[in-house]
Amino acid sequence: MKQQLQLIWGVKYMEKAQIGVVGGLGHIGLIQAACLAKLGYKTTGYDKNISKVEDILKGKLPFYEPGLHEIVEETLKNGLLKFTSSVDDLKSCDLIFICVGTPSLPNGEADVSQVFASVEEVVRNRKSPCTVVIKSTVPLGTNRKVAKYLEEKGLQDKAVIVSNPEFLQEGSGVRNFWEPSRIIVGAQSGEIAETIARLYSPPGVPVIITTWENAELIKHAANAFLANKISFINEIAVLCEKVGGDIRVVSRGIGLDPRINPYFLEAGVGFSGPCLEKDLKSLIAQFHKKGKQAKLLESVLEVNEEKRKEVVHKLKEQLGTLAGKHIGVLGMAFKAETDDVRDSHSLPIVRYLLSLGAMLTVHDPWVKSFREAGFSEADFPGVKWVQTPYEAAEGKDALLILTAWPEYRELDLARIRDSLVHPLIVDGRNLFDPREMKAANIMYLGVGI
Ligand code: UDX
Repeated sequence: MKQQLQLIWGVKYMEKAQIGVVGGLGHIGLIQAACLAKLGYKTTGYDKNISKVEDILKGKLPFYEPGLHEIVEETLKNGLLKFTSSVDDLKSCDLIFICVGTPSLPNGEADVSQVFASVEEVVRNRKSPCTVVIKSTVPLGTNRKVAKYLEEKGLQDKAVIVSNPEFLQEGSGVRNFWEPSRIIVGAQSGEIAETIARLYSPPGVPVIITTWENAELIKHAANAFLANKISFINEIAVLCEKVGGDIRVVSRGIGLDPRINPYFLEAGVGFSGPCLEKDLKSLIAQFHKKGKQAKLLESVLEVNEEKRKEVVHKLKEQLGTLAGKHIGVLGMAFKAETDDVRDSHSLPIVRYLLSLGAMLTVHDPWVKSFREAGFSEADFPGVKWVQTPYEAAEGKDALLILTAWPEYRELDLARIRDSLVHPLIVDGRNLFDPREMKAANIMYLGVGI
């Protein structure tokens, strides 16, 4: 396999390139580090969090991602993958990927302080120059600013800056690494850009070598377009409900047009997670910074926020008031097949329900408490976690589905109906056929159906 990969990928860099990944235990960083090691590159994942480094060396990954555990185990064993919490261990690396977070600031702008700090940290004490590849999603002009920043610090001869945005989806990140839809490289030198693209692009995959700014724009515009598709179908869903239409049929009908395609046209409670919303807000803030409005993008965000309120309003319409009502909530992760609750739509929905006086019992197959998900239990007063969806339904006034976990589709509807005080399900993910629910004598309110 290695020989075959050597022929196809990276060729002459294979044996000698030493790669560092900063933010090596984050979602993007760990997938990047492990898959590069699997390709045969000597790779060191650097993360400041010592306990996370200790955990991974004992075989405990900081999050679940299908297929990742096996690759980490194999590459740690064969010595191609290492982890460290000391930046000095990156001194011998020729290529350093920056995969640190760029969280949203209260005004929607992305906080790029970790990117600047990481680049300076890895470059400062080097003897030989290296290529710094920025994978973190950064606002327009950041790569140029980082290069200027190094110049101001007199470090310009120590590093060449390259932008190489990531397009990994949680839950299929490893597959996305092996089968990327495209590789985008923004650089000032075509030769260096070619090297980065050759490093891990499989044959036949389109490569776009361009400027820093275009690479930054491609990343933001791609996520904004995906968000746009979701809000579009969610807006049409509103009308479907009014005229007795079925958004699933409408979505299929429009998605069969190859100019539209069927992806990201599933109506529901809206998009969430650590990227789409953050990157959309950051893009809007970039328009504002340039004195321009982003009317379409602002509406995409508004429709999304409306969708979250809509499921709560549906419960309220049926139950009269939510004060003192017991609601079972199914799904806290921002989507199925991930244990990631960061920026999940479920959090603001739970907060909204609590603010209206509802009493909540929540279930998620992979997340077992707010604490486990990185939050304080005190921020969600009185919320009870249970082990099964049936416990979440037991004695409740209604059930609210927020994440499309496959196991929820398999629920025994008669058992759920008998557990509920009111046989009412509000489904923010359209997991069921309304006819099935009708047959089970459950009042079922989906999105656009
Ligand atoms: C996203 C981008 O897809 C990826 O390219 C980028 O690198 C990171 O951000 P991810 O955050 O893993 O990936 O989630 P994604 O699969 O895109 O889903 C985002 C949200 O949209 C989820 O809440 C999902 O449930 C929702 N969604 C998706 C819909 O509501 N309808 C759809 O049709 C598709």
